[in-house]
Amino acid sequence: MKHLVEKAAELLNKARAVVAVTGAGVSAESGIPTFRGEDGLWNTYRAEDLATPEAFAKNPALVWQWYNWRRGLFRKSSPNPAHVALAKMENGPFDFTLVTQNIDGLHSLAGSKNVLEVHGSIWRIRCDTCGYVEHNETVPLPEPPFCTCGAPLRPDVVWFGEALEAGIIGKVMEALMRAEVVIVAGTSSVVYPAASFAVTAMQAGAACIEVNLHNTPLTPMADVAICGKAGDIMPQIVKAIL
Ligand code: OAD
Repeated sequence: MKHLVEKAAELLNKARAVVAVTGAGVSAESGIPTFRGEDGLWNTYRAEDLATPEAFAKNPALVWQWYNWRRGLFRKSSPNPAHVALAKMENGPFDFTLVTQNIDGLHSLAGSKNVLEVHGSIWRIRCDTCGYVEHNETVPLPEPPFCTCGAPLRPDVVWFGEALEAGIIGKVMEALMRAEVVIVAGTSSVVYPAASFAVTAMQAGAACIEVNLHNTPLTPMADVAICGKAGDIMPQIVKAIL
C-alpha cells in the first residue's frame, strides 16, 4: 500500500494539471449510502421510480419525499478525511479541478473552491418550465413546491435519461484535456458520461490513479489502483505531496 501511495505521489509531483473525479464512495465514510453494492440505495429503491423525469411527472410527491429523506441524511453528515484531503489538493503544486457526481455539497463544505458538480446539487431547486433556479437548504422542503409560474419545482439534479449541463461539461472537458493526472475516487465508473471522464483524460495523455474499495471497469486501465477507503488513502496521498 505504501508503495502505491508513493507511486501516486510521484505521478502527482510531476503533474502541472490534475483532475479528481469523485463518486458516492467518497461520501460513504460520512454515513451517506452509495448507490450500488451490498447496501446500495438501488438495492432498496428503483431508480425508475425516483430519479427520472418520468417518475417526477407521474408522482412528484413521492420523488420529493425521497429527496427530502436524502436532504435529511446529508444535513446530518459532515465532510470526512477524503473530502478534506481533496480540498487540500487545491494547495498543491498543480492546477487542480475537482469533478464530482455527488449532489450532497460535502466537497464545498470541506473547503473545496473549484468543484464541478456534474449531477447537480440537492441544495438547489429549479423550474423546468420557466428556468427559475433557487438555492434552498430547507429540510424537509414542503412537497412538492410550486414555482410562481405554476409549474412544480424539482431538485436541480441530473436524473437518468437527462443530459448533463452543457456549460459544466465544457469546463470538465477543458480540465480533462489539460490534466496530466486524473484521480478517480469512490465511483463504480459505470454511469456515463462521468464514467468516461478518466478515459478521456488518459487518451489525452494523463496518468490515472484509482482509489476504491473494490475493482471497477477502470481498474485494469489505471496506472496506480489503490484498494482501500478514500478516507484513509486520500490523506496519505496528500501528505506525500504537500
Ligand atoms: P456507486 O454506488 O455506483 O459506487 C460507489 C463506489 O464507491 C463503489 O465502486 C464502491 O466500491 C466505492 N466505495 C464505497 N465506499 C468507499 C470508500 N469508503 N472509499 C472508497 N471507495 C468506496 O456510486 P457512483 O459511482 O457515485 O447518479 O454512482 C454514479 C451515479 O449513479 C450517481 O451519481 C447517481 C447514481 O445512480 C444519478 O442519480 C443520476
